[in-house]
Amino acid sequence: MAESEAAAAAQRSAAAAGENGREAAVAGASVLFVGDVVGAIGRDTLLDCLPILRERHAPTFVVVNGENAAGGLGITPKIADQLFAAGVDVITLGNHTYHRREIYPYLDAGKPILRPANFLRSQPGHGACMVEHDGVRLGVVNLSGNVFLRAGRSAFSEVETALGQVSEADHVLVDMHAEATSEKVALGWHLDGRVTAVVGTHTHVPTADARVLPGGTAYITDVGMTGPRGGVIGVKREQVIESLLTQMPTRFETSEEDPWLMAVLITCSGRRHASSIEQVLMPRPAHEL
Ligand SMILES: [Fe+2]
Ligand SMILES: [Fe+2]
Repeated sequence: MAESEAAAAAQRSAAAAGENGREAAVAGASVLFVGDVVGAIGRDTLLDCLPILRERHAPTFVVVNGENAAGGLGITPKIADQLFAAGVDVITLGNHTYHRREIYPYLDAGKPILRPANFLRSQPGHGACMVEHDGVRLGVVNLSGNVFLRAGRSAFSEVETALGQVSEADHVLVDMHAEATSEKVALGWHLDGRVTAVVGTHTHVPTADARVLPGGTAYITDVGMTGPRGGVIGVKREQVIESLLTQMPTRFETSEEDPWLMAVLITCSGRRHASSIEQVLMPRPAHEL
């Protein structure tokens, strides 16, 4: 009897130690979120910067918006595989999700690649997923704004369903892919205290408002892009200027000038609670020729 009580006590204390360890892992987690990767130059920049950022910050999770990864528009299965092979945990998308047809079946193949949750249910893919590292579960939700973007349903109502799909997650990151700053600011306030982070994407221009909201949700209106700063939100600048000057159809190509990685590092301090959000703006490391 005494022996079995001792064994039960030992089991309880081991379980408590395990639970404490897990709590510590949840509190000590961090997420590197990388803004829209644009074209081959953006992918190469990400692949060059990621090992440096891993060494510097040791993020528990890496989430990347890949909606412009294939030639500036959309993503292909091969590119998604390349990002996953580089250690990206989750890929989020946006209004360019369906530019490449070959990605449609891939979006339904059970991989951690998301399209906005508030697209129509009939459209390929899904908008929420969960990944796990070191016993810590990260839920990721992708949403599209409704102002100036085409999304079949409201981000504000559909986010509840998406959050329900990741209810088991220790941390939740929401990528709100939207044009209007007001929609993103409002979503940050709406979800404050319920998720670890709300990050904005789509404009390709980083904003200077990163902060932790009073309820513990890390927030930024736009993370920016991972691609050529020398262009106009990713496109060769002379082509965009020509288009604006002449008002005539103009060919747009991805610029290769002055590539930077733009990201945020979110540090957690408890379940679904962030202690800091830090912008990471980094030029592509110089190459030995
Ligand atoms: Fe976009
Ligand atoms: Fe984009």
